[in-house]
Amino acid sequence: MHSTNDIRRAFLDYFAANDHLPVPSAPLVPYNDPTLMFVNAGMVPFKNVFTGLETPPAPRAASSQKCVRAGGKHNDLDNVGYTARHLTFFEMLGNFSFGDYFKDRAIELAWNLVTKEFGLAKDRLSVTVYHTDDEAWDLWKRIAGLPDERIIRIATKDNFWAMGADGPCGPCSEIFWDHGPSIAGGPPGSPGEDGDRFVEIWNLVFMQYLQEADQITGDLPRPSIDTGMGLERISTVLQGVHSVFETDTFRKLTEASEDLIGAKAEGEALASHRVIADHLRSTSFLLADGVLPSNEGRGYVLRRIMRRGMRHAHLLGARDPLMHRLVPTLVAEMGQAYPDLARAQPLIEETLEREEVQFRRTLDNGLRLLDEATRGLGEGAELPGETAFKLYDTYGFPYDLTEDALRARGIGVDKAGFDTAMAAQKAAARAAWKGSGAAADDEVWFDIAEREGGSEFTGYTSTEGEGRVVALVVDGKEVQQAGAGQNVIVLTNQTPFYGESGGQTGDAGTITGDKGLAIVIADTAKPLGRLHAMRGKMQSGRISVGDTVHLKIDAERRDRIRANHSATHLLHAALRNTLGEHITQKGSLVAEDRLRFDFSHPKALTAEELAVVEAEVNAEIRHNEQVTTRLMTPDDAIAAGAMALFGEKYGDEVRVLSMGRAGDGGLNYSVELCGGTHVRATGDIGLFRIVSESAVSSGVRRIEALTGEAARRWVVGREEALKSVAASLKTAPEEVEARVAALVEDRRRLERELAEAKKQLALGGGGGAAPAADEEIGGVKFSGQVFQGMEAKELRGLLDEAKKRLGSGVAAIAAVNDGRAAFAVAVTEDLTSRFNAVDLVRAGVAALGGQGGGGRPDMAQGGGPDGGKADEAIAAVRAALAAEPVA
Ligand code: ALA
Repeated sequence: MHSTNDIRRAFLDYFAANDHLPVPSAPLVPYNDPTLMFVNAGMVPFKNVFTGLETPPAPRAASSQKCVRAGGKHNDLDNVGYTARHLTFFEMLGNFSFGDYFKDRAIELAWNLVTKEFGLAKDRLSVTVYHTDDEAWDLWKRIAGLPDERIIRIATKDNFWAMGADGPCGPCSEIFWDHGPSIAGGPPGSPGEDGDRFVEIWNLVFMQYLQEADQITGDLPRPSIDTGMGLERISTVLQGVHSVFETDTFRKLTEASEDLIGAKAEGEALASHRVIADHLRSTSFLLADGVLPSNEGRGYVLRRIMRRGMRHAHLLGARDPLMHRLVPTLVAEMGQAYPDLARAQPLIEETLEREEVQFRRTLDNGLRLLDEATRGLGEGAELPGETAFKLYDTYGFPYDLTEDALRARGIGVDKAGFDTAMAAQKAAARAAWKGSGAAADDEVWFDIAEREGGSEFTGYTSTEGEGRVVALVVDGKEVQQAGAGQNVIVLTNQTPFYGESGGQTGDAGTITGDKGLAIVIADTAKPLGRLHAMRGKMQSGRISVGDTVHLKIDAERRDRIRANHSATHLLHAALRNTLGEHITQKGSLVAEDRLRFDFSHPKALTAEELAVVEAEVNAEIRHNEQVTTRLMTPDDAIAAGAMALFGEKYGDEVRVLSMGRAGDGGLNYSVELCGGTHVRATGDIGLFRIVSESAVSSGVRRIEALTGEAARRWVVGREEALKSVAASLKTAPEEVEARVAALVEDRRRLERELAEAKKQLALGGGGGAAPAADEEIGGVKFSGQVFQGMEAKELRGLLDEAKKRLGSGVAAIAAVNDGRAAFAVAVTEDLTSRFNAVDLVRAGVAALGGQGGGGRPDMAQGGGPDGGKADEAIAAVRAALAAEPVA
């Protein structure tokens, strides 16, 4: 018997021997086609090669491509478990010619593999061709020598293969295997063709045309070949069984589920075991390729598949969560062919277990409701749509799960009623939103979100990709098109652009497309928390709703944002370690050039505390541990020690970011709930520098910091400043500190000396300079002096000296400093009965443009703004003395 693994290998080896390059399977999430949910055929990764946009890896290639057909155009979910050949996950074996060989060689290669290598009996094979394709008919006749009745012309789309409404396409030719008369069904093209007797095993597509909106619009650059053979189906044939579920891989999985549940795969239980085996494969491979369960887009399809599998486990009586316990068997079967699956085993197990625990909590309640609602309903009856909606809304039962749950009892579901209930709920939500007084400007977002659902963010793992334009907004209104020069907001079904949220700045980048379309995106907002609104300016070309465009973020800018975001988490943890558990985040800003973190703390941080925090963050950075992301329920995350923001509303699912070294109990240095984008390992942050600490409001402090290149530049800036200071001090940077201390000391000494010198100067100079010119006015001795650059505080001492010198008399001094003048007058004791120092000073102050002045009759002081009039102030005193009537 050939194992499935042997058959896969034999196929690839055969084509390698025939000059084909074996190409590994691409991930299930298509990187080049936004209209596709999952890769659903072997040729999808080569779409752009067929159309000539990309150069082929080789003229001929072969692959075993992972495919998922659940959700979107090709959706086999509902059939799985109930037919012999439908699967949500399968492997498509294919050989490709990119403008190299065409029909004849393709037919020859296929026929030789099937009949010679695989040894299938010629008399049990038939083929179909497109009804007008005489060339293919003749080739089959010549190469395979089949009788005429087994080269069947088919007029329908069945023999014209297209990837989708848009893309490469062409007539095809299919090879069928006859499982024998014991199975019901007729040959292709006959009324019984849908039976399981004649099963298509290989489809050869003669890729020739390009179509748009289901219309052929032109030829491919060169006729090419795309083929697809379901590995599970050919295994069925080669292993002599009749259903894909009887092949080796599925048998192993079913044996494992039989063992774990203790229920045989027979009778009514058969379909459930099959559903579990298939859904285990699709969910595990999707998880390995980075899809995580969510309530939107791909994540929601994944969740639906999982839940369907889990319900069947429950139906079989599995007491405990089952799916994750089957993963080791799957990895043992398929891990060698798909190393990514083996690598992701822990993530797959953990996610499946968590989902199943969560789902079981709601399943019991939901099934009880379903039982009550269907009591008394017999075969052929319908469950009211409203009940199906309630199950969906309250218990998280996807519509198809309800349908599946009732299928065995022959009860249908009123789909129209379900849709009506859903629409009514949306209308109510809108009415409530309108009533809440939200800005009218936001209505456009509400319209878009309601019509299109949220946009899917692909930027955790990629920095570029394709998206389908679902809405355009110009000047606050939706438009169908925008052209060069316009400011436009673009919304696509999926995007790697992060929308500003959680303190993290939105992404910038470019949108490009056909016919020279180019838009420079300046930033991305996240209206209603689930749309990604990319705001930019049209550079050239036109953009229309429905276009497929290429989205590319400014990855270097995003790297800087990542570094700042991860550093914010480390800072938060370091602050708690250093200052205490009372530290809670009050706000943050993660921009490309800096980060800001606000937190509760009653007083300013000391320089020492800041130094400790900064050193601790840098130590974690240098340890360069991987940053890991897990998805959990908020409660589980908090129970596991994650820091959550108080008062923040979290969804059903949260991302939990762990970084830094693992401490006691295995908890990492920092564990936080966060939807932002982060570095791969802490070392990517580079350097971390705190540049300021300040108060935001009472009890809230703010730290601003830099990372990576910005931090390095900041440090260099400081060093440059130090160097230039050293240069002007004519010393080396390391001497600057001592040099400045010496300078400060020098300055103090000089100030003291200067003050002393001025005083001496005023007193007539300690050095024997001539005394101030004393005069006599009406028999009274008078000394009037003006000092430039003299401090007011020196006046008193100077006046005392003058009085001593005069013995009996009046002294006036103006000290001019910075344009202003201080002014003081002293009268010797013997004269105070004749002159009042206060009156005299007021006369001088008035001359200085000032007001008042005060003191005692023997000593008074004041000042005025007009320092330039100091001489006039002296003159005013002189005049007052002269005016004194002689006693
Ligand atoms: N692309 C072709 C198919 O999926 C081979 O059937």
